[in-house]
Amino acid sequence: MHRAFLPDPLPEEQIERIAGVIRRAPSGGFSQGGSIVVVTDEAKRHEIARAFGDEHYSPHGRNYIADAPVHMVISANESLYHARYNEADKLAATGGVEVTWPVPYWFVDAGALMMLVLMAAIDEGLASAFIGHPDQKRIFDDLLGLPEDVVPIGLALIGKPGEAPPVGSRLKERQRAKDDLVHRDRW
Ligand SMILES: Cc1cc2nc3c(=O)[nH]c(=O)nc-3n(C[C@H](O)[C@H](O)[C@H](O)COP(=O)(O)O)c2cc1C
Repeated sequence: MHRAFLPDPLPEEQIERIAGVIRRAPSGGFSQGGSIVVVTDEAKRHEIARAFGDEHYSPHGRNYIADAPVHMVISANESLYHARYNEADKLAATGGVEVTWPVPYWFVDAGALMMLVLMAAIDEGLASAFIGHPDQKRIFDDLLGLPEDVVPIGLALIGKPGEAPPVGSRLKERQRAKDDLVHRDRW
C-alpha cells in the first residue's frame, strides 16, 4: 500500500488496461459478480475523500485519497452467485438444491479482484492502495448511485507514486513471524 500520489491524470488507455483485469478475475462458478466503478473526476474524488474523513489520510498535509487521480470502487454482487448456482448444471451437481456456501464466494472473488487491480497498477509502474470505510455502502450509493445489490468491498487508489512515508508499512514492526502464518504438513 502506497500512501502518497501525484495528482497527475493517467492516460485513458492505462486506466482501461488496469480496470480490464476484471475480465481475467477468478469467480466461483464463473459467476462474475465483481464490478468496478472508475472515478477520475476531481470534484467526485474530493467528495469521496471528504466522506472517508481526513484524519487517517493526510499524513503530510495532503489528502492522498483526493490526490490519487484514479479511484476504483470494487464491489461484490451476491445475487449473481445465487442465480448462477441455481442453473441446471450446478443443481445437477448438488442434488437440486443450491450449494451450501463454505464461505461467501462473492467476497472472496471481490478480494481477488482487488488484488489483481492493485498488482496491475504496479505492473504499469504506478502505485496503489486499498482502503475501506464502515459506511462505504451508503457513501458510494450516495455519490455513485450503486444499485441495491451491489456491495462495495472498498476503494482502490491508483496513481504515480508521490513521496510516501518510510518504505514499508507503518505497522511493519507488528509483522508476525512467517512460521506463525505458514504451517507445514499440519497446523
Ligand atoms: C481488506 C483491506 C482493507 C484495508 N483497509 C484499509 C483502510 O481502511 N485504511 C487504510 O489506511 N489501510 C487499509 N488497508 C491497508 C492495510 O492497512 C495494509 O495493507 C497493511 O497495513 C499492510 O501494509 P502494506 O500493505 O503497506 O504492507 C486495507 C487492506 C486490506 C487488504
